[in-house]
Amino acid sequence: MKAVIFDLDGVITDTAEYHFLAWKYTAEQIDIPFDRSMNESLKGISREESLERILIFGGAEKRFTHAEKQELLHQKNQYYQTLISRLTPEDLLPGIGRLLCELKNEHIKIGLASSSRNARAILKRLAVIDDFQAIVDPAALAKGKPDPEIFLTAATLLGVSTADCAAIEDAEAGISAIKSAGMFAVGVGREQSMLGADLVVRQTGELSFELLKEEWKQYRGKVLKSIRE
Ligand code: BG6
Ligand code: MG
Repeated sequence: MKAVIFDLDGVITDTAEYHFLAWKYTAEQIDIPFDRSMNESLKGISREESLERILIFGGAEKRFTHAEKQELLHQKNQYYQTLISRLTPEDLLPGIGRLLCELKNEHIKIGLASSSRNARAILKRLAVIDDFQAIVDPAALAKGKPDPEIFLTAATLLGVSTADCAAIEDAEAGISAIKSAGMFAVGVGREQSMLGADLVVRQTGELSFELLKEEWKQYRGKVLKSIRE
C-alpha cells in the first residue's frame, strides 16, 4: 500500500448532511419532496447530475429552462456554502485526523478524489489541506463516479500504480468507481450499501493504519492467488 485516496463528503467530514439540507431547501422551493433516502442515492454524484435526478424524481424534468436550472444550482450551492463556512478543524470525523497522521508517519501518499467543487475550501477550513499531495479537480473530468476516472487521476497525480492504492468512500457510486479503478476499496457505512467493498467499517473512528495494513495483506494475498490460478 503506497497511497490512500480519500473521498471527502461523509468520510473526512460530515458535509453529506449539509448537502442533504441544501438539496432539501432547494427541492422544496420547487415543490418537490426530498427525503434522506433520495439524498442517499445522490452521494458522490455531481451537483448538475443531482439536480437532474431530483427533477426526474419530482416529474419536473421538462419544467425548467437551462437558465432556471443554473439558478437552482446557484441557490443550492449558496445555501451549502453558508453551512460549510461554519466548519472548523473540530469537524473532522472521528479517527480521520489520527489516520492522516499515521499515514504521514508511514510515508504513505495521501490523495483526494471528491466530486465536490467545494473540496479545497472545506479542506482549508478543516486545516488538513497540506496533508494532501494530490487533489483531483472534478471540473476537469469527463465522467463522474461511478466511473473510475477520478480515482485513476488521483493515482496518476500521486505517481502511484492503481494496484498500490487503497481508497475510502461512503457512497455506492464511489465504491463502484474504486473497484473499477482496480484499487482496494474501504467502505464507511452499512454493509448493505457498500456492495463490492473489500473492507467495511460502520464509522470512521474504526479506521486506522493498522487495520488497513492487516486487511490489505489479506486482500493482496487473495489477488495474487487468483492471478496464479
Ligand atoms: C460529492 C457529494 O462529494 O460532491 C455530492 O457526495 C455532491 O452529494 C457532490 O453533490 C458535488 O458537490 P459540490 O460541492 O460541487 O456541489
Ligand atoms: Mg462521500
